Amino acid sequence: MSSAQSSARHAVLAEVIRQHDCAYYVEATPTISDQEYDRLYRELLDLEKSYPALVSADSPSQRVGGAPVGEFATVSHLMPMMSLDNTYSQGEVRDFTQRLQRLLPGETLTYVVEPKVDGLAVTLRYENGLLTLGATRGDGTTGDDITANLRTIKTVPLRLNGKHPPAVIEVRGEVYLPKAGFEKLNTERLAAGEEVFANPRNAAAGSLKQLDPRVTATRPLAFLAYSLGENSLGMTAHTDVLVWLAKSGFVTPQRIWSCENIEALIAAIDELDVWRRGLGYETDGAVIKLEALALRERAGVTSKAPRWAMAYKYAAEQARTRLRSISIQVGRTGALTPVAELEPVLLAGSTVARATLHNEEDLRRKDVRVGDLVVVEKAGEVIPAVVGVVTEARTGAETIFEFPKTCPECGSTAEKTVTAGGAGAAWRCTNAECPAQVRGRLEHFCARAAMDIEGGGEVLVAQLVKAGLARNVADLFQLTVEQVAGLERMGEKSARNFIKGVQTSKSRDLRRLLLGLGILHVGVGTSKALGRRFANLDDLRLATRDEVAQTNDIGEIIADSLVRWFSEPGNQEIIERLRASGVNFASQIFEAESIAPKTGPFAGKSVVLTGTLPTLTREEAAAQIEAAGGKVSSGVSKKTDYVLAGEDAGSKLEKARQLGIKTIDEVEFLRLLSAGG
Ligand code: IVH
Repeated sequence: MSSAQSSARHAVLAEVIRQHDCAYYVEATPTISDQEYDRLYRELLDLEKSYPALVSADSPSQRVGGAPVGEFATVSHLMPMMSLDNTYSQGEVRDFTQRLQRLLPGETLTYVVEPKVDGLAVTLRYENGLLTLGATRGDGTTGDDITANLRTIKTVPLRLNGKHPPAVIEVRGEVYLPKAGFEKLNTERLAAGEEVFANPRNAAAGSLKQLDPRVTATRPLAFLAYSLGENSLGMTAHTDVLVWLAKSGFVTPQRIWSCENIEALIAAIDELDVWRRGLGYETDGAVIKLEALALRERAGVTSKAPRWAMAYKYAAEQARTRLRSISIQVGRTGALTPVAELEPVLLAGSTVARATLHNEEDLRRKDVRVGDLVVVEKAGEVIPAVVGVVTEARTGAETIFEFPKTCPECGSTAEKTVTAGGAGAAWRCTNAECPAQVRGRLEHFCARAAMDIEGGGEVLVAQLVKAGLARNVADLFQLTVEQVAGLERMGEKSARNFIKGVQTSKSRDLRRLLLGLGILHVGVGTSKALGRRFANLDDLRLATRDEVAQTNDIGEIIADSLVRWFSEPGNQEIIERLRASGVNFASQIFEAESIAPKTGPFAGKSVVLTGTLPTLTREEAAAQIEAAGGKVSSGVSKKTDYVLAGEDAGSKLEKARQLGIKTIDEVEFLRLLSAGG
């Protein structure tokens, strides 16, 4: 293919993929099969591999996540990102409308009611239709530049639809994790021995604050747009803004209510409360907004919130019950999790007798004491949690829970460790031989998602461990039917089935074996990524930390954890015994080229663009930098390596001079590119 042909083909592929992404993620009506989509996507990647200059900033390939950053740059919002006044009372909604009517005498006020999505507010800046900056709300005036993370979200358009995009526009909305994605993420984290997130909002927050965008890319985040910041394009009504957003490629609230009086508002709020339960994501209220943008201007803002909008919050389902005791669960990785043992209580349609207390910090912060009357909450898909204490109900007989410094199962010392992914610190039992950990590891190895060994459930595993027949996963392959049949309540037939299951599992794929080994941070997604990158267990075992970290979707924390695991003599012995038993080490999903591009003349370098370059457009320059392993940042800081300056460069160039950062022009830039290429 000539370079012109490849460029034309790339443009067609990028556009077709963009349209399918939109059909799938935005409109939720896929138009082609996953297989067909994968084929197109692969062709695009292959083209970009042969012609790196084709990698434009808005190519669908740019959603996989770029290089990690040391810290987020701070950005000032062009228009402040305000919060909303909250209320739980319909009476206050009435007060709100009356106040607005007094502020705007004689005007007919129309309100729009929208669902209040329970996520995190972000702003997206588009210049000439291209996404150039994405930031968190922060304190409302300045936030963090999380562009690289936001780019990985499929419902964040990298380029706006439409032939004539505005020079600058800021789109605002909420990033959230759908309920299904939250469940899946927590299942994977449990499988990887990591702490679970308490709710979808925390999980979304933890995902957005990742310094490694490749981690964010693995989280199924979504974005819903609800307003514009800088530049309202001359529109006069909020509903016009929503229509424009939808046309530009954003997901907007699926349903809104237009209301002209307080009765209609109250009816809408009640209707929304029922309707929202069927949504695939968490909502915690209704947002009421004045429809006319000009009237909003006149109503104005207070120091923190607009006078023209308000949030009505729905109470989460809560119940009060007595905390009988606190027990400690010891997980497969030794994590000690406090669990509230409650007097059973009916909550959101089911009886709850246990609730999570997450970790020691959570317990201390809430000052939960044994004997307390506690408030338990269950919102949507979330596991029931103790959210607070009714301190007025204390009698003085309550006792403070001493968090154990030793493992309640084996008595070994516990140690405090921090986990990846922003879920907090946990105490862990330090004894790898702890029976609770041994049982957990064996159960995990046999689990459906791992080696899928039938019969290897909680009951049998506990008996095997108790009888001293299995101490680690390699022991399973040495068991005989007679040994298993000799266990309490075990028949000859079930014993035979179990041993058959163990034998069958020998041929499982590498990814299942890796997941089954229960290495810290190696969950479903990670083991799959490793299976793609490494042909067999030995290649992975012999790889250096950096080689492992170069795998797509794998960060340094995971790489460290793997290297540490393989370096332990006990684990090496397990591997050799598995090999001797004939367990398959090869990967069936191995792809020779699944390494993220991290090499190139700009590898690890951060470049800021400013001014107009003589021949390259901004997008072209950015694409070249990224294809050469570098990262394009919007603001100059001490972390910037180069400022690529063209004509009319302004304050960024000035700042670079002040900080003593190397400034280059296009000629120098091209020379650097070819020097390393
Ligand atoms: S409008 C100046 N609309 O709620 C008003 N906010 O408590 C800007 N939120 O920070 C917000 N859904 O994170 C608006 N449909 C919606 C919303 C929404 C969720 C969040 C947003 C905001 C917070 C205010």
